[in-house]
Amino acid sequence: MLRTLHAAGDLAGKRVILRCDLNVPIKNGVITDDGRIRASIPTIRKLVDLGAKVILCSHLGRPEGEPILEFSLAPVALRLEELLGQPVVFANDTVGPQAKAAAKLLEDGGVALLENLRFSKDETSKDPKERERFAMKLADLGEILVSDGFGVVHRKQASVFELAKIIPSYAGGLIESELEVLNKLTHDPVRPYTVVLGGSKVSDKLGVLGHLLPKVDRLVIGGGMVFTVLAALGHKVGKSLLESDQIATVKIFLEQAAALGVEVILPTDILVASSFAPDAEFEVVAFDKIESTSFGESGIGLDIGPESAKSFAAAVSSSKTVFWNGPMGVFEFANFAGGTRAVAHALSNLDGLGVVGGGDSAAAVRLLGFDESKFGHISTGGGASLEFLEGKHLPGLEVLND
Ligand code: 3PG
Repeated sequence: MLRTLHAAGDLAGKRVILRCDLNVPIKNGVITDDGRIRASIPTIRKLVDLGAKVILCSHLGRPEGEPILEFSLAPVALRLEELLGQPVVFANDTVGPQAKAAAKLLEDGGVALLENLRFSKDETSKDPKERERFAMKLADLGEILVSDGFGVVHRKQASVFELAKIIPSYAGGLIESELEVLNKLTHDPVRPYTVVLGGSKVSDKLGVLGHLLPKVDRLVIGGGMVFTVLAALGHKVGKSLLESDQIATVKIFLEQAAALGVEVILPTDILVASSFAPDAEFEVVAFDKIESTSFGESGIGLDIGPESAKSFAAAVSSSKTVFWNGPMGVFEFANFAGGTRAVAHALSNLDGLGVVGGGDSAAAVRLLGFDESKFGHISTGGGASLEFLEGKHLPGLEVLND
């Protein structure tokens, strides 16, 4: 059973290390999507209200052991201050003198944020001894670990795994609420149960596809990954994203879906562009013409077409449980955001449980201006939520189990 904060006893005056996933996109020092920071606030507030000295830590990006400025958590400290309405002391090292001083000088209810954990190569080392060495240094900063970075629980990394074995460790409220919703998808979901998958690579999704296939009623596939599926069905896909080495596997997968009676819904039209650019010329290509148009030669599919957007939205709306992971097209380009918008719109109006599975789809929901409160749940875990649904062992959760 998961050890949760409720079992942690009196935290007043205790130095609590709070491992969050504050890995947010930052462009030129500006945070472009603060969803993960906002999702971390309730647990931080709770610890503050309990009178703990809160020592926050997180990774940001993949700096691979180098202290690279663009991966600094400094902008995140400022955003945390705004959201919490109280000062956040930023230590510009992770286990060095600044971190030690910050941890020592914090008052009860005070908050400090350490610099990016991945500035130390030991955090992500493949060698358990190196990770343990780093975890020991982190452990010197606090008495208790509250692990709340759901987005990183699939990683066996020092602050997620080894640290949790060295000092008393508990799951925070964000992890609890993520698990509560994701468990509803794996244990007896209300039917019809539809999974909508998109994003660029089919190879990233084959694990989850295989695991979900016996559980779902419908599978809707769009995004860059659909071109490998279309190629497996014999279509020409021009210069669209294609993983030719996956075609054989996708064929087997489609046969399995048919054998299990799972309805696979694919696009019937595609927005085919002349180049990968926001202002690229494009045309709607319906599938009956696919062999004879520019799509077959040099066109690039950048979004599902309007007919497909309608049928995808209808599949979502007529379901009682929906899990959606991966955009339907290049939503960052306004001309190619229609498919993603249609799915998000249907999901936000769903009469049932609609879950956005983190990563790019969660970013799309926010960037396209949807009201987040209208979705059943927007996960903070991209890879983590997929691996959870795949039924994989997640080290960052297992270590919190009694
Ligand atoms: C994510 O963005 O999915 C998490 O923060 C984990 O990041 P990682 O894939 O770099 O480990």
